Amino acid sequence: APAVIVAIDGPSGTGKSSTSKAVAAKLGLSYLDTGAQYRAITWWMVTNGIDVTDPSSIAAAAGKPELVSGTDPSAPTITVDGTDVAGPIRTQEVTSKVSAVSAVPEVRARITELQRSIASAAEKGIVVEGRDIGTTVLPDADLKIFLTASPEARAARRSGELKGADVNATREALIKRDAADSSRKTSPLAKADDAVEVDTSDLTLQQVIECVVTLVEEKR
Ligand code: C5P
Repeated sequence: APAVIVAIDGPSGTGKSSTSKAVAAKLGLSYLDTGAQYRAITWWMVTNGIDVTDPSSIAAAAGKPELVSGTDPSAPTITVDGTDVAGPIRTQEVTSKVSAVSAVPEVRARITELQRSIASAAEKGIVVEGRDIGTTVLPDADLKIFLTASPEARAARRSGELKGADVNATREALIKRDAADSSRKTSPLAKADDAVEVDTSDLTLQQVIECVVTLVEEKR
């Protein structure tokens, strides 16, 4: 079969990562978490004392760190200048700063180019998850999915993942990050016109996975 490119976009807490990894594993495809790349460059900026409230400082540093993503869906990896940052990119500090860093055009240009080269190197195809994959990174994807869920469902899932985090605080932080991601000038979080929207509020993860696998198989 020819390589199949699947773009999965949506806000956080919709089950994007779990779904994307499972679909890729089931279909024997590669997997790319683009949020991890934006988190990794944010981690590097914070660690190197870049002022992340200043877009021109971010822009000037955007090309410096070397990012490498491992695309095996059963064991995805992310390194910055050879250091494994899978843990540190999930801290609250990085989460609270990533929207400001990812809004800077120089950051997006660089990471978008990296994402396209990873996608074109995936021989069997790839599932790429993010915010702007269907609209900007891979506009010719074979299948575009836009996952949504109610704020309540999203906050509940995220708090579950963060084990014991306060649901209200988590919901407020999610809403704030999505608002920032949706309102930025350069490739905001948006549903592509030709994306299939799936509301996951009342679906189990298994149901979402099956739904997406069926849609991919229809395209093959
Ligand atoms: O998916 P995740 O929550 O890990 O993404 C972290 C952040 O990275 C998002 O809130 C957004 O600011 C940024 N991002 C982006 N474009 C993507 C993926 C993520 O701007 N394609």
